[in-house]
Amino acid sequence: MGDKKTFKRHTITSALPYANGPIHIGHLAGVYVPADIYVRYLRLKGEEVIFIGGSDEHGVPITIKARQLGVTPQEIVDKYHGMIKRSFQEFGISFDVYSRTSAPIHHETASDFFKTLYDKGEFIEKTSEHYFDQEARQFLADRYITGTCPHCGYEKAYGDQCENCGTSLSPTELINPKSALSGNIPKLKETKHWYLPLDKYEGELREWILEGHKDDWKPNVYGQCKSWIEQGLQPRAVTRDLDWGVKVPLPNTEGKVLYVWFDAPIGYISATRQWAEETGEDWEKWWKDPQSRLIHFIGKDNIVFHCIIFPSILRHEGNYILPENVPAFEFLNLEGDKISTSRNWAVWLHEYLEEFPGKEDVLRYVLTSNAPETKDNDFTWKDFQAKNNNELLAIFGNFVNRTIILTHKYFDGKVPGLNELKDEDKKVIESLKTFPDRIGGSLDKFKFREALAGMMNLARLGNKYLTDTEPWKLFKSDPGRVKAILNISLQICANLSVLASPFLPHTCAKLRKMLNIGKLQWDRAGSVEILESGREINKAQYLFENIDDATIEKQVQKLLNTKKSNEGVIVNPSKDNIVFDDFVKMDIRTATILEAEKVPKTKKLLKLKVDTGLDQRTVVSGIAEYYIPEDCIGKKVCMIVNLEARKIRGIESQGMILMAENQEGKLSFVSPEKDFPNGSEVK
Ligand code: 2FM
Ligand code: ZN
Repeated sequence: MGDKKTFKRHTITSALPYANGPIHIGHLAGVYVPADIYVRYLRLKGEEVIFIGGSDEHGVPITIKARQLGVTPQEIVDKYHGMIKRSFQEFGISFDVYSRTSAPIHHETASDFFKTLYDKGEFIEKTSEHYFDQEARQFLADRYITGTCPHCGYEKAYGDQCENCGTSLSPTELINPKSALSGNIPKLKETKHWYLPLDKYEGELREWILEGHKDDWKPNVYGQCKSWIEQGLQPRAVTRDLDWGVKVPLPNTEGKVLYVWFDAPIGYISATRQWAEETGEDWEKWWKDPQSRLIHFIGKDNIVFHCIIFPSILRHEGNYILPENVPAFEFLNLEGDKISTSRNWAVWLHEYLEEFPGKEDVLRYVLTSNAPETKDNDFTWKDFQAKNNNELLAIFGNFVNRTIILTHKYFDGKVPGLNELKDEDKKVIESLKTFPDRIGGSLDKFKFREALAGMMNLARLGNKYLTDTEPWKLFKSDPGRVKAILNISLQICANLSVLASPFLPHTCAKLRKMLNIGKLQWDRAGSVEILESGREINKAQYLFENIDDATIEKQVQKLLNTKKSNEGVIVNPSKDNIVFDDFVKMDIRTATILEAEKVPKTKKLLKLKVDTGLDQRTVVSGIAEYYIPEDCIGKKVCMIVNLEARKIRGIESQGMILMAENQEGKLSFVSPEKDFPNGSEVK
């Protein structure tokens, strides 16, 4: 592997995540962390590079989610775009631009691509029959049609796939098809669409991929392309009947948009244009100059779109470069099971950030060391703990910490001079020289695990050197020797601050601060002349902390609860502990309901008059689905009487009646004995 051509600059893209949910560790491991490591490495080498990201905001699942929640698709993507962007920022994914496909500049760019290809006569126009919902007056996306699977008889199969037996389907294969919009039986109706004639492009794709990239594309990527091409490519529809997406820029195409996989990868270009507008830079060179090297970081499910369909669009538009490489990753599993959004089997990044503040680099490290580079891989919390405690803390952190503390102890925080060298020093210095090329060589080949192991071996080298030379035993008898040892150790720390920074950017920023140095370029590494003697360094601060068993147990328990609830056992995990003072703040009293009536125009609310023993007051309670007003009158209940009053449907509610809720969400009063006096304190 490795490219033969030389290039002037690098255009690096990372797959645009769908903005219909938060992102999880699988996203980070399979796309964004490796892409970020790679980009940071290129920047440290002084290469010209742009790193492009953004949200993919079109497609049917977003419209389905919006419909389920009774909000607009725009509201959905606004929410998740913000959330995803924040998670990326906090994990240090260093995009030059993070855009979104609902942006006007993207609609314009995608629209122009379609028009150019249309004007060049590239598309095939075809009319065919699709299911139409007469009540909703719209064509139905495959996902909006359900019915019985012709293969296994499963009654809730979708128009594109049966989730029971996994077979890909087309909607007309479903037995008893039903519209998910109205529940009606949809009718077939003619509709016109535009197709990209991939069959016609087969020759050029064979030549470009199968002959041209046999040696430099990863075997998993090359293999998938080969199998697609050899199975025979078919024309692909690039438009859909849908009202959410980039409008088809042709007359009389009301209700038609570009297929999400046509517009999404063009999003990389729109994002570059947005960046250029914001910075006053030129965008075109990144996409049109043959001396720009285009690299797409993606997950394996995106291979066909980035290796076959998007390059065909770029090539036939006529002015664009094609990707030089598409380093696609396999999938990350979680505790032995496939990550799944619908089963909530995931470690969500926004939750991790809350639960492990300041430990962004730990996750970056663990995900890189387990990166699903050549096969699917597994994340386990035990392994996370072990890698933090036994590698980051025990090796990297320990080495840096000992070096800095000893420098303060013996030399007042000033870098000691390097005098006479012993064999053991020379060996370490020789070895140190080899690290930048070794780590860089692995990164050039997109071998991130190997590169990370190389980086950790440097920390290991330093840690072992310090342990073997035992400077703390020598200071009295041979202070000159201690100077040399600590000088070399400090130089290794400075080397780590460069060579580890693509992997652990937050940690290396702290390390630079301790060493009192700025950012260094990659080519400065490998030497023991980074820190001049006499330079003052700052005090030691911890780079990593121990992660204890209880913390890990909590995460494992959270997943076990998810598993149980997926199996139908509903467990609400117990809430975090509170202190007694929190509890006694609540004034809970026994009370009796005196009057009850429905709140007009609501389904759930009853207005109650209650005798609390202290006074009589009004409470609005969401219990109307479980209690009729007559049954409430005379009931003994428990009530929080010092809850701030609030208006509900215009009625001031002065407290809250305690209710128990069972697994199905059914409510029941929590009642004291019948003759218990009102106003008794519940404690
Ligand atoms: O698979 C996905 O999550 C897609 N949203 C990736 C799109 S990548 C690019 F084409 F935008
Ligand atoms: Zn089936």
